[in-house]
Amino acid sequence: MVNSISLLGLQWGDEGKGKVVDLLSKDIHAAVRYQGGHNAGHTLIVGEKKVVFHLLPSSICHKHIKCYLGRGVVISLDALFSEIDDAFEFIGDIRERLVISYASCLIQPYHIKIDQLRERSRSGTKIGTTGRGIGPAYEDRVGRRSIRVADLYDPKVLKVKLEEALDIYNFLIKRHAEDQQEDLNELLDKNLEQAERLRPFVGNVISDIKQFQEDKKTVLFEGAQGVLLDYSLGTYPFVTSSNSSLGGIASGVGISPTQIDYSLGISKAYTTRVGEGPFPTELGHNSEIGHLIAKKGEEVGATTGRLRRCGWLDAVLLSHSVYLNGINGICLTKIDVLDGLETIKICVDYSSSLSNEEILESMALSDVQPIYIELEGWQEPTAGISRFEDLNDTAVFFIKKIEELCGAPVVMISTGPRREDTIIREYPLKK
Ligand code: GDP
Ligand code: IMO
Ligand code: MG
Repeated sequence: MVNSISLLGLQWGDEGKGKVVDLLSKDIHAAVRYQGGHNAGHTLIVGEKKVVFHLLPSSICHKHIKCYLGRGVVISLDALFSEIDDAFEFIGDIRERLVISYASCLIQPYHIKIDQLRERSRSGTKIGTTGRGIGPAYEDRVGRRSIRVADLYDPKVLKVKLEEALDIYNFLIKRHAEDQQEDLNELLDKNLEQAERLRPFVGNVISDIKQFQEDKKTVLFEGAQGVLLDYSLGTYPFVTSSNSSLGGIASGVGISPTQIDYSLGISKAYTTRVGEGPFPTELGHNSEIGHLIAKKGEEVGATTGRLRRCGWLDAVLLSHSVYLNGINGICLTKIDVLDGLETIKICVDYSSSLSNEEILESMALSDVQPIYIELEGWQEPTAGISRFEDLNDTAVFFIKKIEELCGAPVVMISTGPRREDTIIREYPLKK
C-alpha cells in the first residue's frame, strides 16, 4: 500500500505536475510542498476554470485534503496572501486546511529587488530567473541569517535580524539603484502586521505528517520545478536554488528519506525550458516544428508569461532523472501536442568529446550534439483519449520506446489539460 507518494518533474519544470496532482487528489489525505516558492506555476482545471497555483499545494481545491508548506519552501507573505485571497473566491476559507512550518524561511522585498536588479545588470551570466527573490532567499538560508516564520512572533529578534539583513541588502541595492533602499521601520511594521494574518496558519509540519503516516493515511509530496533545475543535480549554474529532486523531500519537510513508497515522475512527450541555459534538443522558435509544438502546447510560462523554449524528448537526460529519483512510474504528458507530426525524434545519445558519464556528472551540456532516433508520427489523434486500447499503434510504439530507453514504466499518459484526458495504465495509489 502506498502511504507516501512523491510527484516531481523530470525535466526543466512545467511538465504538467499541477494537473496530475489534481487527478490523484481524490485518494490522498495530505499534500506537502517541500521546496521552491512562488517561482512555481502549477496549472489545473477546476470545473471550466483554469487555475494556477504558485505557492499553495495544488491539492488545496479539494476540501478533504490538509495542505502543508514545509521548512524547505521559501515564502513571500505578499504572494501567499494574494494567492489565498484569489483562491477564496472558488475554494472558500482555507484556514483550517493550510499549515505552514515555523521553520520556513521568508522571502523579503529586498530579496525580490536584488534578484531583479542582479539579473538586469548581468550580461553573459544571466540565469533568466523568475525574479521572485528565490535565489537570494536561499542564499540567506544557507548563510544562517534568514528570517524564519517563528521570528515573526519575537519582535526583538525580528528587528535585529532585519537590521542585519538591511546592512547587507541596502549596500547591494545601492550599487544598482541608489533610490531603492529599504526602510527598517517600514519593513518591521509590515512584517509584524503580516505576522498577525499568518498566525492561524502556522503549525508543526513534522508531527502532523508523522501522525498521517502512523494512521496509514496517504501523503503526497508535490515537487516544484524539475530535476534538471535542482541546484545540485541540474544544469548548474542555470538552475533554481533548491533541491527540486527527491532528495529535497527529507530535509524540506522533516521525514526520513526511506519513507517514500512511490516516486512518480512527470515528463512531457517532448522537452521545454524557460530561462537561460543549455538545452541540447532545442528546436528554436524559428524552426517549423519548434514553433508548432510551442503553439499547440501553449508553451507560455504560467508564472512569468515568457515563451518556453521547445525541443525533442531527451532520453539521455530523462533516464538519468529516472535513476536519480528512484522513479517507480512515469506520467507522460502532452502526447496530444505531437498529434499529426510526420516524424518524431528522441535523443538517445550525445556526440561530444566527453563521455556520457562525464557529461552527466558535470552537466556540461552546452557543447553536446544530440543523436536521435526517428520514429514515425501518427495521424489519428490521441487528444482526449482515456483508454490505452484506444491509442493508435504508432503512439503505443512511441510510449514503449520511452519505457525501454528510460528503464521505468509509463503508468499514466496525459492526453489533454483536463482531469478526464488521462490514460491510467497502472494507478500509483491503488488500494
Ligand atoms: P507544472 O508547472 O508542471 O504544473 O506545469 P504548468 O502548469 O506550468 O504547465 C503545463 C501546461 O500544460 C498547463 O497549461 C496545463 O494545463 C497543460 N497540460 C497539462 N497536461 C496536458 C496535456 O496532456 N495536454 C495538453 N495539451 N496540455 C496539458
Ligand atoms: P514549475 O514548478 C520552469 C527556472 C527559471 C530560471 C531558473 C531559476 O512551474 O515547474 P528562479 O526564479 O527559481 O531563481 O529561476 O529556474 N524556473 C522554472 N522553470 N518551471 C518552474 O516551476 C520554474 N521555476 C523556476 O525560469 O531558468
Ligand atoms: Mg509550471
